[in-house]
Amino acid sequence: MINKHTNMKIKTVLSGLLITLLSGCNSTGDISIDDFESGNFDKWSIEGDAFGEKPIEGSYKGQQPVSNFQGKFLANSFQGGDDTRGVLTSKEFTIERDYINFLIGGGKNEDTYVELIINENSVYRSHSFVESEALQWLTWDVKAYHNQKAIIRIVDNQRGGWGHILVDQIEQGNKAKSVFMNNYKLSFDANQKYILLPIEKEAPEVAIQLSVDGKNVGEQMNVRLAQTHINYWFPIHIDAYKSKKVELAFAPIKTTDIWYQQIKQSDTFEYNYDETYRPIYHFSPPYGWMNDPNGMVYKDGEYHLFYQYNPYGTRWGNMHWGHAVSKNLRKWEHLPVALFPDALGTIFSGSAIIDKSNTGGFGKDALIAIYTSAGKNQTQSIAYSLDNGRTFTTYDQNPVLTDSNIVDFRDPKVFWHDASAQWIMSLATSQTITFYGSKNLKEWNKLSEFGEGIGSHGGVWECPDLFPLTYDGKTKWVLFVSINPGGPNGGSATQYFIGDFNGKTFTPDTMNYPLWLDYGRDNYAGVTWSDIPATDGRRLFIGWMNNWDYANNTPTENFCSAMTLPRELKLAHNGEHLVVSSIPVKEINELRRENQRFDNQKIEKSYTFDKLLKDNVGAYEMEFVVKPQGATAFEFKLFNQNNEQMRFIFDLKNKTLAVDRSKSGKVDFSDNFAQTVINAPLPTKNSYKIRLFVDKNSTEIFVNDGEVVQTNTMFPTAAYNSLSFDNEQGIISVENISVYNLK
Ligand code: FRU
Repeated sequence: MINKHTNMKIKTVLSGLLITLLSGCNSTGDISIDDFESGNFDKWSIEGDAFGEKPIEGSYKGQQPVSNFQGKFLANSFQGGDDTRGVLTSKEFTIERDYINFLIGGGKNEDTYVELIINENSVYRSHSFVESEALQWLTWDVKAYHNQKAIIRIVDNQRGGWGHILVDQIEQGNKAKSVFMNNYKLSFDANQKYILLPIEKEAPEVAIQLSVDGKNVGEQMNVRLAQTHINYWFPIHIDAYKSKKVELAFAPIKTTDIWYQQIKQSDTFEYNYDETYRPIYHFSPPYGWMNDPNGMVYKDGEYHLFYQYNPYGTRWGNMHWGHAVSKNLRKWEHLPVALFPDALGTIFSGSAIIDKSNTGGFGKDALIAIYTSAGKNQTQSIAYSLDNGRTFTTYDQNPVLTDSNIVDFRDPKVFWHDASAQWIMSLATSQTITFYGSKNLKEWNKLSEFGEGIGSHGGVWECPDLFPLTYDGKTKWVLFVSINPGGPNGGSATQYFIGDFNGKTFTPDTMNYPLWLDYGRDNYAGVTWSDIPATDGRRLFIGWMNNWDYANNTPTENFCSAMTLPRELKLAHNGEHLVVSSIPVKEINELRRENQRFDNQKIEKSYTFDKLLKDNVGAYEMEFVVKPQGATAFEFKLFNQNNEQMRFIFDLKNKTLAVDRSKSGKVDFSDNFAQTVINAPLPTKNSYKIRLFVDKNSTEIFVNDGEVVQTNTMFPTAAYNSLSFDNEQGIISVENISVYNLK
């Protein structure tokens, strides 16, 4: 019996025969360029030491196991580790088939690649698609080069992580073996508003370049295009290119993916804005990923909030500055994206100021953004706006500050220092903060460096802010430094120092550092608003309500992350030492709708307040005072009908306020979201005044006017509508209990 398989084989043999008969030579079988099975590089010339002297059987010592190669040997540039470099150049051969297929693995860096050279021109230069020690087929279509002479180069010019390449089984054939496709392009005659991209949250990123009438527009976008299912669609705005030819060019793509048949033009972009965990009264981006608040500045009645923004996904990447404004710190109006990646890099965190005396020469009262350009190196750049932040022009001499010796060199926060008549920039420089001075925002000189041997150094220092606060009629300077990891409860958190600043040097007071602004897990990279009018005089703050430990995995759908409530910072004495206290800005009180009051209770063991609100969508504020009368510990918890709960545990003996979110709802999206209780130090008092804000997926607890603060996210499956108290020994008196619906 001849089955299908043998039948096909026979056909191939027959057609091969036929052509052989006609042409006198076999032109359909695969031709090996090299499979390295000879055990030496006899077909190659060797430069450098990365590939060793011969092909190797699998992996080198210290390398993860190499897999998916064929036979015994392959070319592997891990000889001597990632840092060695080298090139293999093949002997010349003639192109006799339609495709060149080969197996490739290792790093996907710019400088690890396989190259096809014809007539001294580089025709293809291909990198591994993923960082992996498992090799995959890659195919070059060489139909256009039949009978031409060619050379292949295997290049490892990369040091550091994944600085190696793996290659095997290079052959010519008439079948493309790769499921990857190079140089894939999609063209549209633009006549609608958007191109919609189907995205799968966990898929690997694919690089896309937009061009209009043959000219590249903007930088490459890295988008997690759907491989097997679509989580959501995100738009590329093409309204401005009506009746032009808009093209998307893709880095190697997989023909087995579903996205490339689905990308489409559309006049509408619709998504479920009011998804389960969309906060009601906290700022969140319309769609897409958000991290740090940036460029906060006040001008002409508007509070500006820019933010780290990925418009092409709900995970970190493609950093832009998103933009919103508010007249009252309560309601925010979304504005178009303010800053886009450019040739110097993506747009990382930074600040904004109003240049009242036109020191920069961009115009009086220009709104100037100072940010990190995250390219090959991190450098500082500026952009100015003469229309209240609606449009920006990047300075044509960017960058304005560089130091190629420091890898983590970012997050400039600038203010005008009257006493020394100059702009001061605080910049995160690895694990210190460096201060720079400038008269014009364009030329900066180093003033001093702070941070060695003081405070927490568990991770990289980021997002500094230096500002004055008064206590008891005296001016003190506060320096914020965000750190990740190394926070008091793991992951990201903001530490601070209190001291003096003389226009050059910051000198910290002797205190028991580190001190933390917020002991909760979800207040990071926060800084303060610039240019708040003197008549107001407040120091206003907002933070990113998330933690790098798990931010990329949180269970929201079309967007990721919210900001904390805007807060007012003050210096306070907690009975033991000075602290930076924070409370929600007073404007937030205007969000209160119904006020549900409950009678005071003296509680001996436990007590439950049920039905906190009639109409409870999970967005409310709660106020009460707890007076421990002989109790050594008490706790209160919010809970719902699904047995999910958020616990707040006041341990008066051990002087801690612990938050336990281990049973708060969805917790399994990350290993370290809810393992342990989240602790804050708690000075002993006779009375604890509590304000607790709940907004769908967050809790912010302020104790005694913000002397102790914890901000923690959570993902309950239904709104918490009950509050119960428990105590150990003695009694607790719970007084002045109010619950407000917030809108
Ligand atoms: C802090 C941070 C900053 C950086 C930005 C990039 O969360 O790492 O240091 O500028 O995020 O998005």
